[in-house]
Amino acid sequence: MSEKLNILFAAAEVVPFAKTGGLADVAGALPKALQKLGHNIKVVMPRYYTVETEKLEKLPAPLGVPMGIMGELWAGVYKTTLPKSKVEIYFIDYEHYFGRSGLYGDENGGYHDNDNRFVFFSKAALQLCKMLHFTPDIIHANDWHTAALPVLAKTRFVHDFAYAASVLTIHNLQHQGHFYKGVMDVMEVGWEYFNPYSLESSESVNILKGGIAEADAVTTVSKKYALEIQTPEFGFGLDGHIRVHNHKLFGILNGVDYTEWNPAVDKFLAQNYDVGNMRGKLTCKEDLQKHFHLAVRDDVPLIGFVGRFVKQKGIELIAGVINKLLDHDIQVVMLGTGEYWAEDFFSEVARFRDNFALHAGYSNELAHKIEAGSDMFLMPSLFEPCGLNQIYSLRYGTLPIVRATGGLDDTIINFDAQHKIGNGFKFYDATAEALYNTVLWAVDVYNNKKEAFQRMQKFAMQEHFSWEDSAKEYEKVYLFALQHKRGNNYEI
Ligand code: ADP
Ligand code: GLC
Repeated sequence: MSEKLNILFAAAEVVPFAKTGGLADVAGALPKALQKLGHNIKVVMPRYYTVETEKLEKLPAPLGVPMGIMGELWAGVYKTTLPKSKVEIYFIDYEHYFGRSGLYGDENGGYHDNDNRFVFFSKAALQLCKMLHFTPDIIHANDWHTAALPVLAKTRFVHDFAYAASVLTIHNLQHQGHFYKGVMDVMEVGWEYFNPYSLESSESVNILKGGIAEADAVTTVSKKYALEIQTPEFGFGLDGHIRVHNHKLFGILNGVDYTEWNPAVDKFLAQNYDVGNMRGKLTCKEDLQKHFHLAVRDDVPLIGFVGRFVKQKGIELIAGVINKLLDHDIQVVMLGTGEYWAEDFFSEVARFRDNFALHAGYSNELAHKIEAGSDMFLMPSLFEPCGLNQIYSLRYGTLPIVRATGGLDDTIINFDAQHKIGNGFKFYDATAEALYNTVLWAVDVYNNKKEAFQRMQKFAMQEHFSWEDSAKEYEKVYLFALQHKRGNNYEI
């Protein structure tokens, strides 16, 4: 592509500033890869309470954000660059909406004003472009939080963004932004968009649904998930709507930031290692066992889990078999936070089992140590749009045990002893039995087919899921979106 595009990239979380999950990893890495391809990209996110402002530059003038019947609200704007890059990132500062302990909610659930918070953020992102005299060719929205952007850009803000094509990436279809229809008067997109083909869903507003309808292109984070979301099983009620729009739907697998997730340079590890010298992995295993007060043994298979404790991640399947699994000579460590029942349940397991350990909470350092110190990585998700941890695991020579869904199915090649291939272990049925049998199968390979296990590790560690490749795919989607917006004569 010869023409350099102006791209506005809006996300509710961006590494290293705020993160609850993989969206932040993507938003912190993809813009850098796009800039390396020559594009002019600006990232925007809310300035949460946890984002410290000391090292940020404050823009002199406040930003006026029109909020319909609520009048105009005034936000502050901070600016810096993404680490190790020249990509500018802007923070929308509005204490009343973002000066809170959580990103989306607290122990009482989602914040009651999430509709206004993220409509405000989306509008602020567009106002920011105007303030910076930045005319985007592409407005790239992510998940429901910013899915109002495609609708806003062609309605309330059309005068300034008439030539901007919008792309919406779905990282997780489960969260759609369902709200009381009164938010229409805050969005100001016109009540004609409150119809079942756009923003309306059962008499309420569904922001993601409207975004899907109005975006010039929609992407999701793996090819398999792009197919799955068109079925009732994975569609969360939007499968029919997505099928209507599948001519503009693309699946693009996430990449990995190998400056962060790479055992050769990982600063959190007891010892670095790589495919040519695996000694350090044993040191990492020992370090992990010590950290969790497990027996320090190099011969026992150690299985790790890192992830949100929610149904999506197959947490109930794990709960269903963990005690039976722990009767075998294995060790399991889990890092996660989320549903309280799960934290309580696994804490109890940890109390009674000496080959199981839990860290209920969020710790980036421990996530890295688990990737490196484990022999296998457990990810039995019920659905998984892409999944990053299994891809990180590959680089650490930690073989994933996964359910064959979404990005897990696209990235993990099942062990095949006869043909000597594979980079992990897969099961298909979302049942505790299938999980149990697959873990035991992996354990058997670890214990009794050492050569095959090591061959898989070496293969896995040499795989490369590059952001550069993904960014090139996004370029193609941007071109598609621009042609959709500006007509077939538009050439780049
Ligand atoms: P999702 O976005 O659905 O949570 P992904 O696999 O795409 O799943 O990304 C999860 C990201 O969040 C990974 O970078 C993972 O290491 C990180 N993560 C999840 N839970 C924790 C935790 N408790 N502590 C540290 N990192 C976590
Ligand atoms: C979502 C998905 C996860 C994906 C991530 C980044 O949180 O649950 O599968 O890897 O977004 O795209």
